[in-house]
Amino acid sequence: MDMSKSIYLTTAIDYVNGHPHLGHAYEKILTDAIARFAHSCGNPVFFLTGVDEHGQKVQQTAEKRALSPLAYCDELAVVWSQFIEKLGICNNDYVRTTQPRHQKVVSAILNKLYKEGHFYKESYRGFYSAKEETFLTEKDRLPDGSFDPMYGEVTELIEDNYYFKLGEHQQWLIEYIESHPDFIYPESRKNEVLGFLKKEKLEDLCITRPVSRLSWGIPLPFDSEFVTYVWFDALINYMSIAAAHGDLQILKLLDLTPEDFPENGQEQMEIWPPDFQVIGKDIVKFHAVYWPIMLKAIGAPFPKRLIVHGWWQKNNQKMSKSTGNTVDPIAVINEWGLDAFRYYVLRELEVGPDGNWTDSGFETRYQVELANGLGNLVNRSLSMLNRYRDGIVPAKNDELKNETEIIVQNTFKSYQDIKIQGALIKIWELIYRANQYVDQTAPFKLAKQPEQAQRLDEVLYNLVEICRILAVILWPIIPETAEKIYSQLGLNTQPDLWSESFWGKLTPGHKVNKPMPLFPRRDLNKK
Ligand code: MSP
Repeated sequence: MDMSKSIYLTTAIDYVNGHPHLGHAYEKILTDAIARFAHSCGNPVFFLTGVDEHGQKVQQTAEKRALSPLAYCDELAVVWSQFIEKLGICNNDYVRTTQPRHQKVVSAILNKLYKEGHFYKESYRGFYSAKEETFLTEKDRLPDGSFDPMYGEVTELIEDNYYFKLGEHQQWLIEYIESHPDFIYPESRKNEVLGFLKKEKLEDLCITRPVSRLSWGIPLPFDSEFVTYVWFDALINYMSIAAAHGDLQILKLLDLTPEDFPENGQEQMEIWPPDFQVIGKDIVKFHAVYWPIMLKAIGAPFPKRLIVHGWWQKNNQKMSKSTGNTVDPIAVINEWGLDAFRYYVLRELEVGPDGNWTDSGFETRYQVELANGLGNLVNRSLSMLNRYRDGIVPAKNDELKNETEIIVQNTFKSYQDIKIQGALIKIWELIYRANQYVDQTAPFKLAKQPEQAQRLDEVLYNLVEICRILAVILWPIIPETAEKIYSQLGLNTQPDLWSESFWGKLTPGHKVNKPMPLFPRRDLNKK
């Protein structure tokens, strides 16, 4: 493995004027788990997330509130970055598309593509939805002649704009996706993209908006009458931050230097290309069609994997602020703890299919899997070691070594394959096995029989060693809990390296601390 290049992970950048909800939280936590796993495997990691700040909706709301668009964005960007912090995300940078470092890269790319003949200017007459910031055609009309209400007010326009020639890229893109089966994950999404590319002719992409209609955007460097279309601007965030951190490959392509980014201290990191770009299913076309075409035109290597996750509903219905059918991640975290929330969203669905939040499903997983499963195992293992052996780890014993090693290996494979739910299912097999081992070996009975002292030592060693290994393999998902387990075990290192998951690291004579409940049991009937 090339250790000089960081494993580069990105999430979609959220619309700053939206409201942080379960879907946004899920995407960040999923990417965070993949990033932490990459770190745990010993790789340098660069994890980027952030906000998307341009476009008509931001301009309109700022006007309504008598604020400048930037002042309005400044206010909201704080809410979003606090949200990321609350989720325990280990991001290395936070991009805002209003930042000069981003705008510099967008301008450089626009100039390059313009000079190289990828754009043309043309007059357009047709329909426009400001709500979706998109042009509509006759094809978009419903049978009764109207447009879908999701488009909001649709107006007729005649305007000049610049277009990016996409049509000529259709064939190679089909071939690329077919010959790189890992590029789009899961396979169902890859097939969807191929189906679209094979069936429909790729229209050229309008990449500008006239300043007369929309001024809140990145100015087009070669024509001051226009600003850049918000999606063209937003996709480039993934590249601008690599350039800002001094990725020479990108700087060279765009004719920039580290001195162009004084805000990043003229670093020189090797980041490009992204290893994992995590997005929701609604924005696949932008990332699997427009984005690779933009990269091909720029001459930059492609991201290795696009990970497309499903969408969350609550109680089998679309989440919506207006109907009150929402999940507020911050309220859930305040009530149940961060790791309970992180665990639930990653355990409930595999990466790809849609998910359905129910309060009762969440509470059941909390009680059964976290409190009675993991929490109880750690609590009773450490309590018994403290009670029967003054907290001193006894001689090593390998009774559960093989079973544990098999589960650790399978878990590793699941993480590698981005089957995070699968990894958790395997980890819980180990938790159930260890809890069953307590019931079968009954250490509380052994403790009353002096002739069983050695047997009790064996059982206690197996239990505390499993607790330690669980901390290591759970760290990518529930890092706070994993760190608490290490600290209750009296270890002063972090469980953040997979290489520590080998059996037998706990040494005889080591003293553990007293346990503290990891997931206090709740009386659910009282709620
Ligand atoms: N700003 C664009 C992305 C630009 S990326 C260059 C955008 N923003 S968004 O705020 O609408 O969505 C951000 C991410 O959240 C997207 O990946 C989207 O799929 C995801 N989700 C939004 N609602 C969701 C659910 N209900 N469930 C799961 N994810 C969802 O699109």
